[in-house]
Amino acid sequence: MDKILIDGGVPLRGEVAVSGAKNAALPALAATLLAEGGHAIHNVPDLADVRTMGRLLSHMGCEVGRGDGRALEVRVPASLSPEAPYEMVKTMRASVLVLGPLVARWGRARVSLPGGCAIGARPIDQHLKALTALGAEIELEHGYVEARAPRGRLSGTSFVFDLPTVTGTENVMMAAALAEGRTVLGNCAREPEVVDLADALRGMGARIEGDGTPEIRIEGVTGLTPLRHRVVPDRIEAGTLLVAGALPGGDVVVRDCVPAHLEALVEKLRAVGASVEPAPGGLRVVGDGRPRATDFRTAPFPGFPTDMQAQMMVLLAIASGSSVVTETVFENRFMHVLELTRLGADIAVDGKTALVKGVASLSGAPVMASDLRASAALVLAGLVARDTTEVLRVYHLDRGYERLEEKLAPLGARIRRVKA
Ligand code: EPU
Repeated sequence: MDKILIDGGVPLRGEVAVSGAKNAALPALAATLLAEGGHAIHNVPDLADVRTMGRLLSHMGCEVGRGDGRALEVRVPASLSPEAPYEMVKTMRASVLVLGPLVARWGRARVSLPGGCAIGARPIDQHLKALTALGAEIELEHGYVEARAPRGRLSGTSFVFDLPTVTGTENVMMAAALAEGRTVLGNCAREPEVVDLADALRGMGARIEGDGTPEIRIEGVTGLTPLRHRVVPDRIEAGTLLVAGALPGGDVVVRDCVPAHLEALVEKLRAVGASVEPAPGGLRVVGDGRPRATDFRTAPFPGFPTDMQAQMMVLLAIASGSSVVTETVFENRFMHVLELTRLGADIAVDGKTALVKGVASLSGAPVMASDLRASAALVLAGLVARDTTEVLRVYHLDRGYERLEEKLAPLGARIRRVKA
């Protein structure tokens, strides 16, 4: 098992490019199940979660492999086994994204229930309610969702989500694309990854409008053609690199990002005193002296992303003054706090809020990653801490960042991966 060693205290300088978005690549891969034939998806990052989704598609009978350059190619056969087993779903909750495409295109699906996870309970009740509204017959048996489309096809419907869910919106949008008639979905997630999936589906021949707003309207079609798509840049990787550049003394250009996807974060980076300005192909961030305190709360897009909460907290941990961070999306997403405390941070959690009292400096120590974004925060903290920080359980980081240490080292970071 690998660990990452960081000798902190070197301000970052230079340019770094952002990879394709994990959370756009995963639904695009699931969307291939909507059409038989050869699909090509470009700008797919080489990550553990992407490989897991590839294995899941292979398990069903698809052929998955990297073509020229970075394109990921998927060949969907004329018949497949529509099952997502527990062994795969338990390592990656996003496996549930195959449910909608399977039941819509293949008339049935058997998908393991994901169970709990490190950041909260994360039920999939909204996915199931919406698919039921589309006419799927759903039973829960032996830990599996067994779904069937009576007469082989789903039927258009109106459905309002109780709360905006990203993968829920994606799952149901994919299912409705092949349903008979019109579907109107209310209270949808508006994340850029939902819009990217809608773009991908339109490229396959789907008739979808309203993505990026709370109401998505879908006119079902009888068949779709294989996917040719380039996934959007990863706004969370971009955001993580922007925070790295906003650490004291930093001056970093983050290339290949979409500034419109990063507005809530950029506003908070400016609030702590960093300068963030457009640069060719991306954004330039300059972290002046010590950050200033600021409060923020996470919220669905276009609010401040929960996936950036842990990383932003690192800036607040070394800020002058106290900040209040409120996590509204997941109930248990402060697991990084105790590890940051081991580095000398002064943070107290009370339910959904964390009171961060800025300290003058952090000092390196061994720390344990608990989930993907928490591990990114620990790497950022290591960049600014005195002496050596050892981040253990790096497999969490590798689920969602394409060799983060190789992106940070050329910026001057003293960071390396070693076998633990
Ligand atoms: N929720 C329900 N019922 C449902 C679905 C969701 O109660 O049926 C709740 C969740 O428990 C949570 C809230 O709704 O409290 C929002 O969850 P959402 O469904 O939007 O999350 P997700 O689709 O499971 C995606 C990302 C996450 C990201 C969240 C929030 C993917 C593959 N995952 O998860 O990404 O944190 O949206 O933006 O797109 C990550 O990349 O590190 C990550 C965890």
